[in-house]
Amino acid sequence: MLDWETLERECLSCCKCGLCQTRHHVVFGVGPRDADVMFIGEGPGEQEDLQGEPFVGPAGKLLDDMLSIIDLSRENCYIANIVKCRPPRNRDPLETEQEACISYLRNQVALIQPKIIVCLGRVAAMKLLDSGFRITREHGIWTEKNGVWMMATFHPSALLRDVSKRPEAFDDLMSLREKIQQIHARI
Ligand code: URA
Repeated sequence: MLDWETLERECLSCCKCGLCQTRHHVVFGVGPRDADVMFIGEGPGEQEDLQGEPFVGPAGKLLDDMLSIIDLSRENCYIANIVKCRPPRNRDPLETEQEACISYLRNQVALIQPKIIVCLGRVAAMKLLDSGFRITREHGIWTEKNGVWMMATFHPSALLRDVSKRPEAFDDLMSLREKIQQIHARI
């Protein structure tokens, strides 16, 4: 396991997959490095690539609103992605790109030691929970993995496209709030 400084340095100069050729910035992650709660998206979009920070585009604005409902923010949880560089035209990251990148995220999780990880959308859920994960059926379901409570909810981009999913996403947020209280996670 690398320390934060080495990890960030290696990640920022990474060229383990083709995404390094088209990126403007590596989007490493943001938030306190001792957060109890982590959110994991799939990969940077256009704004994230330009600014070097996760979830700062339209989906990010919605994520901020969702977090604020349960008193969470970038100040008290850590936000990262499965892949750190933007896939062209926002396509799903390829399995090879995810594999090339995932050790950075695993190292971040090992350093942070969160109590709770929330996957944002299908790609993160398939990588971190179960390769056959079905977001419409399995969102909001908690599982404990290596001492960490994990669940997936809809990706904020999906909630922008399809507002009919928002009530279910709200229920997932309520469930997250309950889990935070139940296990005395710090926020
Ligand atoms: N979508 C993601 O999955 N991650 C981001 O950082 C931005 C949009």
